[in-house]
Amino acid sequence: MRAVVATEPGGPEVLSVTDLPDPVPGPGEVLVRVAATAVNRADTLQRQGHYPPPPGASDVIGLECSGTVEALGEGVDDWTVGDEVCALLAGGGYATSVVVPAAQLMPVPDGVSLVGAAALPEVACTVWSNVFMVAGLQPGETLLVHGGAGGIGTFAIQLASALGATVVATAGSPKKLRVCLDLGAATAVDYHEEDFVEVLGRTGGADVILDNMGAKYLPRNVDALATEGRLVVIGMQGGVKGELDLGKLLRKRGAVIATSLRSRPVGEKGAICASVVEHVWPLVAEGRVRPIVHATMPLEDAAEAHRMLEAGEHVGKIVLTA
Ligand SMILES: NC(=O)c1ccc[n+]([C@@H]2O[C@H](COP(=O)([O-])OP(=O)(O)OC[C@H]3O[C@@H](n4cnc5c(N)ncnc54)[C@H](OP(=O)(O)O)[C@@H]3O)[C@@H](O)[C@H]2O)c1
Repeated sequence: MRAVVATEPGGPEVLSVTDLPDPVPGPGEVLVRVAATAVNRADTLQRQGHYPPPPGASDVIGLECSGTVEALGEGVDDWTVGDEVCALLAGGGYATSVVVPAAQLMPVPDGVSLVGAAALPEVACTVWSNVFMVAGLQPGETLLVHGGAGGIGTFAIQLASALGATVVATAGSPKKLRVCLDLGAATAVDYHEEDFVEVLGRTGGADVILDNMGAKYLPRNVDALATEGRLVVIGMQGGVKGELDLGKLLRKRGAVIATSLRSRPVGEKGAICASVVEHVWPLVAEGRVRPIVHATMPLEDAAEAHRMLEAGEHVGKIVLTA
């Protein structure tokens, strides 16, 4: 197979395409001929040598893909060769073939192309598992989404508004604020100009916050929580060590939760994928939630895709075709 490898830890220029042996599916696994993969922030950290793959995972970068089932490992009977699928991966997506535990495969939602489907697994599984399965966002509640125009943000805005929540999103430019509103956010806050705590304070606070910033926003996120609010930290773009005012949290009877998808056992990822297929895919098939693809480029341009992501001018996801 062809695969993108990092020749050494470093900048985007260390990425290059090489030939590697085709992976072989073991028991419970499926070989997928990759049509497309998508770029995640974790990929850029792995490229720099800061985020090694979990034990047993491929060294090849790439946390999601779409494609066609090419071979079945022993004991897999719920998929058929030729099925079009998308998958949540622990690694290996930047390649023309990948082996995936069968539980982490999902059908391509009706009406979605393989390019669009490659942009869905990470955002759908992350948003659904954190905002709904963990934080239990309810219709009528308010969700604050930081980084509303990013991959995660664009999906969270659409999904939460489709399910009846009021969404407030933060973003850093007029163009991105417009995107958030167009996707269904009731309010978009320019974090350079306005304090999101004040904005949320006018309407009683956020019942759930989906946070990509970590330490930098921790005190203000607690301030922005409503009574019994739930703050879910999924990213640490603003650092890892912050100060938590437990008194404020206690008075609000609030919760601070931090989760990571990649390191979870196959059984947990499988349960999330099954729940996504049950609850999220129908909304995608109806067109109420759609993949937002900023750019599509060939696997050979992985370095350029990483530069684009790190420049932060994208809206939604960047897809690489195999
Ligand atoms: N824990 C998990 O399992 C998990 C899974 C997937 C992703 N993640 C994490 O989730 C985060 C988002 O991922 P992604 O794929 O959406 O990345 P992305 O597309 O690069 O989006 C990141 C967003 O961060 C925004 N941002 C930068 N500075 C900000 C600030 N001060 N305040 C608010 N927003 C700011 C950027 O928007 P502006 O240009 O508007 O500032 C950008 O849209 C990343 O940190 C990623 O590692 C975690």
